[in-house]
Amino acid sequence: MSTLVILAHPDLEHSRVNKRWRQALLEHPAEITVHELYEEYHNWEIDVAKEQGLLEAHDLIIFQFPLYWYSYPPLLKKWLDDVFTHGWAYGSNGTRLRGKKLGIAVSIGDKKENYLPAGSVSFTVDEVITPFKASAIHVGAIALPYFAVFGASFQASDEEIEQSAAEYVAYIRRHRLPTPSPAQ
Ligand SMILES: Cc1cc2nc3c(=O)[nH]c(=O)nc-3n(C[C@H](O)[C@H](O)[C@H](O)COP(=O)(O)O)c2cc1C
Repeated sequence: MSTLVILAHPDLEHSRVNKRWRQALLEHPAEITVHELYEEYHNWEIDVAKEQGLLEAHDLIIFQFPLYWYSYPPLLKKWLDDVFTHGWAYGSNGTRLRGKKLGIAVSIGDKKENYLPAGSVSFTVDEVITPFKASAIHVGAIALPYFAVFGASFQASDEEIEQSAAEYVAYIRRHRLPTPSPAQ
């Protein structure tokens, strides 16, 4: 089964990181399906049935986006609000995401050392992505460790971005493997 990557970048044309990551993913069409929200929904009217169908057809789903104000770009937030509905994603009959693996691939403008309690951001990335992890728990899914590149605004060199693209594909492959069952 292929992996679904939900890509949300409002200005991919001027992107360094997400554009390169997208290119790396597109080299593996049999393994990875890239779904570009800003390309698909110029009018921001999400086709909920279509999106839910896509999610149901995949067990490993990665949300790829640039970090904007310590959060998702707004179309991804709207997508979550529209698609993760009561009776489908949560509530007594809302079981469709249960057991699926959800990951995040995020480009982060600031430097890694600033994402520490003593750094200028004051929070770790794991703390920043708490809403994502809480949402995964709420729908009975498994929140994977995040994949990130730091210094995405200025510091990251072309070589680092190039390397991160290969690491991103490896991250997806690693998590496509079945989760090992607990030791007996
Ligand atoms: C509106 C906006 C908000 C941003 N907010 C943050 C932020 O909260 N933290 C951070 O480290 N970088 C922030 N950045 C920098 C982006 O994360 C960075 O430009 C992006 O990850 C680069 O990826 P790209 O080359 O794919 O566009 C922000 C950038 C924009 C345009």
